[in-house]
Amino acid sequence: MAYSGPFQAGDRVQLTDPKRRHATITLVEGEQYFTHKGAIRHDDIIGQDEGTVVKSEQGCEYLCFRHLLVDHVLSMPRGAAVIYPKDSAQILVEGDIFPGARVLEAGAGSGALSMTLLRAVGHEGEVFSYEIREDHLEYAQKNVEWYFNGAPENWHPRLGDFNDVTVEDLGGPVDRIILDMLAPWECLATAKSLLQPGGVLMTYVATVPQLMKVMEGIREQQCFTEPRAWESLIRDWRVEGLATRPEHRMNAHTAFLVWTRRLADGVTPPRPQRKARK
Ligand SMILES: C[S@@+](CC[C@H](N)C(=O)[O-])C[C@H]1O[C@@H](n2cnc3c(N)ncnc32)[C@H](O)[C@@H]1O
Repeated sequence: MAYSGPFQAGDRVQLTDPKRRHATITLVEGEQYFTHKGAIRHDDIIGQDEGTVVKSEQGCEYLCFRHLLVDHVLSMPRGAAVIYPKDSAQILVEGDIFPGARVLEAGAGSGALSMTLLRAVGHEGEVFSYEIREDHLEYAQKNVEWYFNGAPENWHPRLGDFNDVTVEDLGGPVDRIILDMLAPWECLATAKSLLQPGGVLMTYVATVPQLMKVMEGIREQQCFTEPRAWESLIRDWRVEGLATRPEHRMNAHTAFLVWTRRLADGVTPPRPQRKARK
């Protein structure tokens, strides 16, 4: 699938009708897509620029754009809950996922974060995605292959428990580790053994007890910096003249993010200094 330029056969295209309903099709020469307003010929879209309008047989107009990664993540089939785009954006920036990075994640779940990581590390980087459940790994593989039109060479989806992973399995220590699973505090000793000194570890947990356990677990390892925890809240706005206001509805909670960095071997974390109470 191309990411820009005129539409080509093989591109996934999102069609939006006048009621803002979406349908996604994959362009195939000579094919038709049937709507309740008649057929749309794929050949009417192939060769056109993105943002074009195509008409069905009965004259209904559809706006055509390529399917973006966020569209794919929010509409693809899921085995496990995905990391939402607002949170994967935080992981990319706060986790400092750089082009060429070697990133390890668990669990792969539905593959949402895998795709975001693969885009960020580029062709020079590598993403290792471990998943303990075979059925979930299949979802991840199908979703990633569907999005990239095949399995990227630098993606290593593997069935297994994160706690069984060794440095040899990865061909050396990794730069970044992201844990999105029920009990990440059980995986911290393994994360320590797989992460480069200076490497960033991030975890994604949904509830307060999980957050407390993972923060305490990181402190107990004595090989990470004082962890930082936060959540991101995104509130959309409706901007329409005098009716301009925040939207009434929002996704108020997805999960908490936890961030820390691996210290050099043999170094224990300096005690955080707190202000003395007067
Ligand atoms: C919430 S999902 C991950 C979703 C994924 N990050 C995404 O964006 O699509 C959590 C996954 O972690 C897997 N899991 C739990 N413990 C694991 C472990 N120790 N090793 C590998 N995978 C594990 C579960 O089977 C589940 O599929």
